[in-house]
Amino acid sequence: DLGEYEHYMLKEIFEQPTTIENAMRGRLNYDEATAIFGGLNLSSQQLRQIDRIVLTACGTSWHAALVGEYLIEEFARIPVEVEYASELRYRNPPMSDQTMVFAITQSGETADTLAAMKECKRKGHTTMAICNVVGSTIAREADGGIYLHAGPEIGVASTKAFTSQVTVLTLLALYLGRMRHLSYSAGQNIIRKLKDIPKQVEKALECHEAVKTIAEKYASMNNFLYLGRLYNFPVALEGALKLKEISYIHAEGYPAAEMKHGPIALVDEQTPSVFIVPRCGIYPKVISNLQEVKARKGPVIAIACEGDDRVAELADDVIYVPDVDECLQPLVASIPLQLLAYHIAILRDCNVDRPRNLAKSVTVE
Ligand code: F6R
Repeated sequence: DLGEYEHYMLKEIFEQPTTIENAMRGRLNYDEATAIFGGLNLSSQQLRQIDRIVLTACGTSWHAALVGEYLIEEFARIPVEVEYASELRYRNPPMSDQTMVFAITQSGETADTLAAMKECKRKGHTTMAICNVVGSTIAREADGGIYLHAGPEIGVASTKAFTSQVTVLTLLALYLGRMRHLSYSAGQNIIRKLKDIPKQVEKALECHEAVKTIAEKYASMNNFLYLGRLYNFPVALEGALKLKEISYIHAEGYPAAEMKHGPIALVDEQTPSVFIVPRCGIYPKVISNLQEVKARKGPVIAIACEGDDRVAELADDVIYVPDVDECLQPLVASIPLQLLAYHIAILRDCNVDRPRNLAKSVTVE
């Protein structure tokens, strides 16, 4: 079952070119420059009326929701709120009649996500599930939804489900966008780039050996910061969560520019910062955030685009990933972070597939 791999987590990391492809299969319509979903069970008139979207989830799925917020707001100009399901279920936020709710969940069994969804449903909102496990409770309770088709995820730390969630959210943003502000050519452009992603993720996986070497250098450290901006801010949160979960190292994800408002006080020679610095509109700003850390003697591991020599001069270590469109960067930038957490955990003799205190699906509050 594990094939050539030593652990499910590693196997699932390496499955991602295929699972991302599967999340897109049959869902791209190049001629109409949009996405197609079979299971939303709503007419385009009904979808056109949505004036607000709430994405609710826990853990890694909540991080995917944050990427979804950026994507949907950018492509479709619909206001999006991302809510921890455990908070939403007991809160009573004002929600307009035309607010649609998406529960994002790998297992489809997370108790808080189910309860939040039911509460929204009771109030009369249309609720959708973005879910991996077919026929799971949340998939059945929802009015409609989108399956990830990622196949069973065995490793407790979610990897392939995350990139599949981000892929599906990208398609959803494209779909809602094409009903509103996104032009035909912009839609086609996104589809072209999406089709290329499985290949780019395959390339990103080539960093495996480099990451292994870097992991050896940092495995004994006890505090990490993960920093990124815009689409890569949720990726930083997710990178930090992966490290915490499987290696039991304290790690915090932050928007890189927020550092100077507090967390920079943590920086010292023993506190590495993992910076996600792809080429993007605010590249110079991220670089200056990186320099602020270096100036305080903090070791920097940078995730950068191939050919970026500037970062190589500044950072202690660089992991290169392919250069893709800004909105698709989370799909490639997550790969080295998953691998880094995996190798550090192995070096610290941790049980990567079954980390302590955690369960694959959290069916208690
Ligand atoms: C992290 C992880 C958890 C889950 C969370 C939600 O690696 O696995 O944080 O993401 O418990 O689970 P689902 O997506 O099944 O609702």
